[in-house]
Amino acid sequence: APIGPPNLFACTTPRPPQPNCCLPVPSSRPSAFAINSSTPLRTRRALQNVLQDARYLARLNAAYTRLRRLEREAPNDPRGLEQQRKLHCAFCSEPLVYGSQYNMHGDWFFLPWHRMLLYYHERILAWATGDVSFALPFWNWDSDAAAQKALPSPYANTTSALYTARRRAAAGIQTRLQREITRDELFSGIGSVTGPDDVIGTAGNRGYLEGYGHGAVHNAVGQEQPPHRDMGDLAWAGYDPVFYAHHANVDRMWSVWRQLPGRSDPTSADFRNSRFVFYDENANAKIIAVSDVLDHATNLRYVYENVPNSWARARR
Ligand code: C2O
Repeated sequence: APIGPPNLFACTTPRPPQPNCCLPVPSSRPSAFAINSSTPLRTRRALQNVLQDARYLARLNAAYTRLRRLEREAPNDPRGLEQQRKLHCAFCSEPLVYGSQYNMHGDWFFLPWHRMLLYYHERILAWATGDVSFALPFWNWDSDAAAQKALPSPYANTTSALYTARRRAAAGIQTRLQREITRDELFSGIGSVTGPDDVIGTAGNRGYLEGYGHGAVHNAVGQEQPPHRDMGDLAWAGYDPVFYAHHANVDRMWSVWRQLPGRSDPTSADFRNSRFVFYDENANAKIIAVSDVLDHATNLRYVYENVPNSWARARR
């Protein structure tokens, strides 16, 4: 049977020292996702291509500044950065406070659920900047260019709202990603399995995209050492703004992969009709189904800037 939606009124508060990732209770009953045709079609661009776009970078920075301020001034507002972190924590990290069926890692729900999370996060950033056309950037770490494996410079600027000290040193991040990601089957094509399961994995199994590329970036950015409240720990990862640029790249890779010959998303009703819950840019709870997000251009109104994908060419 399909799963969901989770009940935001029924969070099991874990015992300390487990982190409590229960979300604020909605002020009204969650309503269903609807296509927002008043937002323009947005293009999510690669970070390496926005470095000269001072206006865009200022908006990105202003958006996170506002989410941080909201966290201080209205801690229960689900749009604040700490609440955004908790949203990811609640569904991606033990203890799973809304029920053990809601673990959004390790199988095919990984991709659509994180797509939903990014979609609502992006709407919140757009609200925060007052620019409905605002789109997330993506960190193109799957590029063959070594430079793209470095932490994107806007996130490394210590005076910016995109920065957090809870990371490995920048040089260490790049060295690690260069090592981890170039030897990865996903990009070399070595050991590739053809067919729809090669990148994404099957139900109950992590695929290469989640297990290698995605995981490598978390562990390269996070320090893997106490206090460990960083990208290396899924309970905390959502507090680092680079998490969203990282996941935008994972989401883009799914989109690129999906367009390769012979690849398709699972078609079962159990998959497509499973539903999840998120807070939107007006702080209203929304219920959204997997089938709502499989076509991101039509239903979510965003597309990705094209960048070279040698791993995709190797897989044709
Ligand atoms: Cu739910 Cu990259 O994590």
